[in-house]
Amino acid sequence: MMSNATPQTIDVSLDERSYPVWIGRGLLDDSARWRATLRGRHALVISNRTVAPLYLERVARGLDGLRWSSFLLDDGEAHKSFANVGLALDALATLGATRDACVIALGGGVVGDLAGFTAACWMRGIDLIQMPTTLLAMVDSSVGGKTGVNLSAGKNLVGAFHQPRAVAADIGTLDSLPDREYRAGIAEIVKGAAIGDTTFFAWLEQHAKALATRDETALVHAIATKVRYKAGVVARDETEQGERALLNLGHTFGHALETAGRYTALLHGEGVAVGMLLAARLSERLGMSDPADTLRLEQLLKEVGLPTTVPPGTDPEQLLALMRLDKKNTAGTLRLILWRSIGRAEIVSGVNEADVLAILREAAKGRD
Ligand code: NAD
Ligand code: GLY
Repeated sequence: MMSNATPQTIDVSLDERSYPVWIGRGLLDDSARWRATLRGRHALVISNRTVAPLYLERVARGLDGLRWSSFLLDDGEAHKSFANVGLALDALATLGATRDACVIALGGGVVGDLAGFTAACWMRGIDLIQMPTTLLAMVDSSVGGKTGVNLSAGKNLVGAFHQPRAVAADIGTLDSLPDREYRAGIAEIVKGAAIGDTTFFAWLEQHAKALATRDETALVHAIATKVRYKAGVVARDETEQGERALLNLGHTFGHALETAGRYTALLHGEGVAVGMLLAARLSERLGMSDPADTLRLEQLLKEVGLPTTVPPGTDPEQLLALMRLDKKNTAGTLRLILWRSIGRAEIVSGVNEADVLAILREAAKGRD
């Protein structure tokens, strides 16, 4: 088990914009560490009404002597909205935030994405510290600089690349995270292994139970391995000109499922889990991959307690229409992340809609 004194540090290497991701217990209280990355005298902590009562006070202690305030969202994906970015920017204005101000994102991916986008917009870009409090945010959304908000037309359609100055992932905050949310975070860990790391995938198969039951040694290894993997991809392709798109394995299906379910039927990580499986089945249908790999993925997802079927009542045609809106698409053709095998994902352009629809119809009928 890791002690407070020795958090793991993983660097995201982006020349002068490089930053550390600290992973450890008690990091919220280790203000000497994260406060050293603040450059100015103003800070706005963005959080939500679930997380703030649990953790804001500890962060506030570290802000002593600064001019700071907080902006709290209502809880839920629906609040990752333009309207709330406007209100958060108003909060920065009220604070009198100057160009050296810092936004601190204290929460899950919803808070992190909105806070990051707010930081990207204020005076064309100010500092950001991510303090992720969900497993999903620790292993994915807080690292790599993607920020944004949803439109009613679809998820994450508006945003900016804006890297944080530091990420402080205090795993102690996961103690209060509900199990369903925790498992949704495991989906993003499985995703990293499924895309590019066969050894890690095998490790996950061996440690699925330990991870699902929150064994801390397994958890820290899993977080650090996924973050290291993502940091490497981001360092090579920060703005998704190529390789980074692979990190969206399962997302085109998953986002469509999330949107169709009005962000309540499936959590983001659950959508990614089902989406990865649909992508694996499509790969199989297109003759790209071996059914044995699909089965291993399905088995692992089940072992960690993630859903592997689409919600009842899912409409395949509606899902396909939503998938057409995905940002990866180019003029009128579907561009999806599929795989050759575990650990070998691939970007495939011009995917035939009839094949996608066949997979969606089969899933909606129920294959289990
Ligand atoms: P979330 O932010 O909605 O958090 C999930 C739930 O857990 C919320 O109810 C939240 O209030 C609660 N919560 C958070 N921390 C808690 C804690 N420590 N204890 C108790 N409750 C806590 O959801 P999420 O799964 O963290 O993030 C999903 C979002 O992240 C989506 O909007 C998705 O699009 C985005 N995302 C972004 C990226 C990226 O690269 N920027 C990557 C993946 C996902
Ligand atoms: N979650 C996908 C990315 O960060 O690129």
